[in-house]
Amino acid sequence: MIKLRNVSFSYGENEVLKNVSFETGDGKSLVIMGPSGSGKSTILRLLLGLESPHEGEVLINGDNICTMSEAQKRETRKKMGMVFQDGALFDSLTVGENVGYYLIEHTKMKFDLIGEKVEEMLGFVGLGGDNVIDKLPEQLSGGMQRRVAIARALLSTDPKLMLFDEPTTGLDPFATRNVLNLIRKVNSEKGIATIVVTHQIADAIEIADKYVILHEGQVAFDGGLDELRDCSDERLKNFLEPFRESFRLVLGKNFVDC
Ligand SMILES: Nc1ncnc2c1ncn2[C@@H]1O[C@H](COP(=O)(O)OP(=O)(O)OP(=O)(O)O)[C@@H](O)[C@H]1O
Ligand SMILES: [Mg+2]
Repeated sequence: MIKLRNVSFSYGENEVLKNVSFETGDGKSLVIMGPSGSGKSTILRLLLGLESPHEGEVLINGDNICTMSEAQKRETRKKMGMVFQDGALFDSLTVGENVGYYLIEHTKMKFDLIGEKVEEMLGFVGLGGDNVIDKLPEQLSGGMQRRVAIARALLSTDPKLMLFDEPTTGLDPFATRNVLNLIRKVNSEKGIATIVVTHQIADAIEIADKYVILHEGQVAFDGGLDELRDCSDERLKNFLEPFRESFRLVLGKNFVDC
């Protein structure tokens, strides 16, 4: 469904991605990890067609997003939901207006029906009670705002793929758990493929079918957990070293004993 083939990309002189290739399928959950500045968010921008690679191809269901017209790109983006790190909610709109924004602005759907859909979606993300629907974003915690952002992305279009850029950064363990459970639920109950960028390996282990780890703009690892545990790539060992304890706790054993 999503395939990057030999993608290279630079911001000016700064070569950010070098010959990056990986793919993920319908309904799958891919996690992208890597140190700060390794090009993770840039990959999400390429997938959305907001940037074009200088070399290589970004294929969405077999179609190269780089050669699409703006209209085709818009149609393709409708199949993708993006949740930005800060949630990017509209401060002056209520939670309900935020979640229903796309339907209010871009469809002729009756107001009552939009209200029903908003309520249903807030229920799905676990914010059905406490009149959350009428609150302003500033009245909510960071974790709740993140969940509102996910509800808005789910209701904006009919996504087949959701992209999350560091969805748990800045959240406490309880809020982190809620957001991770929600991402898993989006994947398992709605059958939506997910691509999640995270620095938190403990988070990644909870949601990923497959991992792509970047190092200085190159793919240092692409595979499942068993392969990750057995991997002996020096770059990867260095990157994973700080997470040794998380691995041990989650898996009950060390990640690389090679
Ligand atoms: N709009 C931009 N213009 C110029 N350079 C940029 C731009 N966006 C990112 N970069 C540079 O590209 C490189 C990769 O950035 P990117 O945001 O993809 O990294 P990242 O892996 O998401 O990092 P982080 O974990 O800190 O979010 C960095 O060196 C960054 O400074
Ligand atoms: Mg980033």
